[in-house]
Amino acid sequence: MFPVSLPTNSFLVAALSLLLIRISCSSLSVPDIPHIAVYFGTKTRYEEVNSHLLRDALSVNTSVLKPPPTERCSLVHLTAVIRHGSRYPTVKNIRRIQKLSELVRREASRGSEGWLRDIQSRWQMWYTEDMDGQLVAKGREDLRQLAWRLATLFPSLLSEENVKMRRISFLTSSKHRCVSSIEAFQEGLQQHWGQHEFYYSHAVDDKLMRFFEHCRGYMEGVENNRTALLEVEKFKRGEEMEAVRRRMAERLGLPQHRLTPDLVEAAFFLCSYELSIKSLHSPWCFLFNESDAKVLEYKSDLKQYWKRSYGYAISSLSSCPLFHHVFRTLDKAGRPRRSTEASPEPASILVGHAETLLPLLSLLGLHKDKTPPTANNYQSQHGRSFQTSRIVPYAANLLFVLYDCQRGPRLQLLINESPVRFPGLETEDAPLYRDVRATYRHLLDGCDFHGECEGRTGGRGPNTEL
Ligand SMILES: *[C@@H]1O[C@H](CO)[C@@H](O)[C@H](O)[C@H]1NC(C)=O
Ligand SMILES: *[C@@H]1O[C@H](CO)[C@@H](O)[C@H](O)[C@H]1NC(C)=O
Ligand SMILES: *[C@@H]1O[C@H](CO)[C@@H](O)[C@H](O)[C@H]1NC(C)=O
Repeated sequence: MFPVSLPTNSFLVAALSLLLIRISCSSLSVPDIPHIAVYFGTKTRYEEVNSHLLRDALSVNTSVLKPPPTERCSLVHLTAVIRHGSRYPTVKNIRRIQKLSELVRREASRGSEGWLRDIQSRWQMWYTEDMDGQLVAKGREDLRQLAWRLATLFPSLLSEENVKMRRISFLTSSKHRCVSSIEAFQEGLQQHWGQHEFYYSHAVDDKLMRFFEHCRGYMEGVENNRTALLEVEKFKRGEEMEAVRRRMAERLGLPQHRLTPDLVEAAFFLCSYELSIKSLHSPWCFLFNESDAKVLEYKSDLKQYWKRSYGYAISSLSSCPLFHHVFRTLDKAGRPRRSTEASPEPASILVGHAETLLPLLSLLGLHKDKTPPTANNYQSQHGRSFQTSRIVPYAANLLFVLYDCQRGPRLQLLINESPVRFPGLETEDAPLYRDVRATYRHLLDGCDFHGECEGRTGGRGPNTEL
């Protein structure tokens, strides 16, 4: 019997493991995603921006790298500025969610519809204040998978040797979710190269990754200035938001005055959190249709525009330290070298926040529309380029890719793993680095943090041309 049972057993084991793989794959491949998931602003999942990742989270499109086909080029350096991954709500939003769920449980009409019954009888408030903005398991996965894909895309830079010899620099904001994210990124790289025991090595630098807090002109002129976000306040009480509030009140059978705009937003965020944290299509999502979601998305775009982007010049200028840091790193990596000299730093990984990325993107002149979004022009802003759901989802990333080519170093930009062109240099995907430097000359020679942040106070007026 013995010789016979062995192959039978191993066949059974093989069949069983195949079955298990099939089961786990099929449970992964039935994503029941709310239609409104692409409108969650800074609470959007990375997968909503790159939907092919829903089928294969590690798939990489190598044709996004576009050095000129007529020139011989090699990769010399990657600087990646990355937002932390999916996270828990902060205390402020947890309290709003608490308030909303109590209101709906106590005062909403008894649900005739299934989703309302689900909210009232099945859904449990499970968020607690100690979760306060921390990275969730899915958020660690976001960064691990991103690292894995970047190692596939840049095998010579994020190479096994460069990872093992610790030639890659890692720098992060001090916030817990960012430190956890940079650790997860390092796990992803090490996993990619077959390591199973992880080590971490990174520096914390808030002057670079949380520059906004260190810029007095920004803090006084924008962050702590009650009138700086006037457009957001007006929109919150404007006709589009009022209509969303009225419809939500109707769906819940509540008097409209019981729902504040903050509670409307809490319900929208709740739908986003249940998806990004637990991959659930929450019953709360049924409170909104696509038109409602677009209005709520616009509300958060307005906030980011006026608080972190083109609304006030000081917001982008506060990122000058990070801008200079990136270009110093690129200068060093692109400098001509004798063959005896040590090779340049292959990659620099910087982890921060949406509040880190948006000012830097604005300083570079990216996603700038002709007309600023305001409380009154929602209808004309449907095709806007400044759409935070697309730009700064969880794990958003801005990649500076430096090549060494026959005519000299070249630089390419990618946002969320897709190519974008430098404003003013739109004819090429990877223009000569010296042309990029010439385009940003005024910032490279100026953009003095202390001059901008300490010198003049106030927001310096809306939309001053840089
Ligand atoms: C790969 O990237 C290129 C360049 O951005 C794009 O044109 C192409 O559609 C992408 N292919 C896939 C399968 O996504
Ligand atoms: C959403 O609901 C409103 C009010 O019922 C309706 O006017 C609008 O057309 C709906 N939008 C979509 C995309 O279904
Ligand atoms: C606050 O913002 C308003 C609107 O931009 C501006 O006029 C005012 O000077 C700012 N206040 C301070 C203290 O900077």
